[in-house]
Amino acid sequence: MARKLIIDCDPGIDDAIALLLAMASPEDVDLLGITVVGGNVGVERTLANALAVTELAGRAVPVVAGADRPMVVELQTAAHIHGEGGLRGADLPPPTRTAVPGHAVDWLRATLRAAAPGSVTLCAIGPLTNVALALLLEPGIRTALDRIVLMGGAIGLGNVTPAAEFNIFVDPHAAQIVLGAGVPVVMAPLDVTHRAITNPARVHAIRAPGGPVARAVAGILDAYPSKAKFGGEGGPIHDACAVAWILRPEMMSGRTCNVRVDTGDGPSRGRTLVDWWGGDRNGPANALVLDRIDDEAFFALLTERLARYAAD
Ligand code: BDR
Ligand code: CA
Repeated sequence: MARKLIIDCDPGIDDAIALLLAMASPEDVDLLGITVVGGNVGVERTLANALAVTELAGRAVPVVAGADRPMVVELQTAAHIHGEGGLRGADLPPPTRTAVPGHAVDWLRATLRAAAPGSVTLCAIGPLTNVALALLLEPGIRTALDRIVLMGGAIGLGNVTPAAEFNIFVDPHAAQIVLGAGVPVVMAPLDVTHRAITNPARVHAIRAPGGPVARAVAGILDAYPSKAKFGGEGGPIHDACAVAWILRPEMMSGRTCNVRVDTGDGPSRGRTLVDWWGGDRNGPANALVLDRIDDEAFFALLTERLARYAAD
């Protein structure tokens, strides 16, 4: 039976591909709603982009606007990667759909309050502000969650600073709250997302079925701004890795360990301290941290699922 799923996101080029992957997989996931947060671009843009992506997919999934800034620090965006509008290369028309009224944090609380214990998976692929606020305001909702699958953090090097990955760097306080909330966490850090890099053949396979979704996704991947960093061929599709774990967990592996976040203001702000070697000093294990992925299987799944839109 399809798993109930909520995606909290900040589209964002790779968020858009992650959403399309989830919406193309009804036998695996029943997407209850999409909540958006300020991150890659401001929340007005992430909202418009999430609506536009659902429209592109032809799926009337509820979309709700959330926090426009992190809990404590100022918002830092990543428009240099995602474009000023947040969907560089996708070339989507403005949405005609409108958001569900109200705030994403209230929508998350109400939806999870009404859900059976352990019946919902929350996939968080942006800064964790909405998720942390919902868990802080109403800790009881955690029982509805079987797990939080998040894209964020790094065992090794960061991408926004040498120490930190973007999602955790943007709202480190929220990330620490989520990791300490008592909900099992699966973390897809840069160490795993950087092992699944696009290349011309992979983009060609995604474009081949034709249709608006194939064009938009291939357009995003063609325009990927930092190909040189990854050997010139392409780049990672970070957020799609988190959704792919939910669809096919066997294609990735990692280690269960303690993770906490540097919430200080120094050069390591937002660093995920991953206690890979275990021991008691840093606290009990609170996350499955992924570090391996079968990249061929990942691109095969992504290509097969996205091709379904061509036949819609
Ligand atoms: C993460 O940061 C964002 O820019 C991407 O959408 C992804 O969620 C990668 O570090
Ligand atoms: Ca994202």
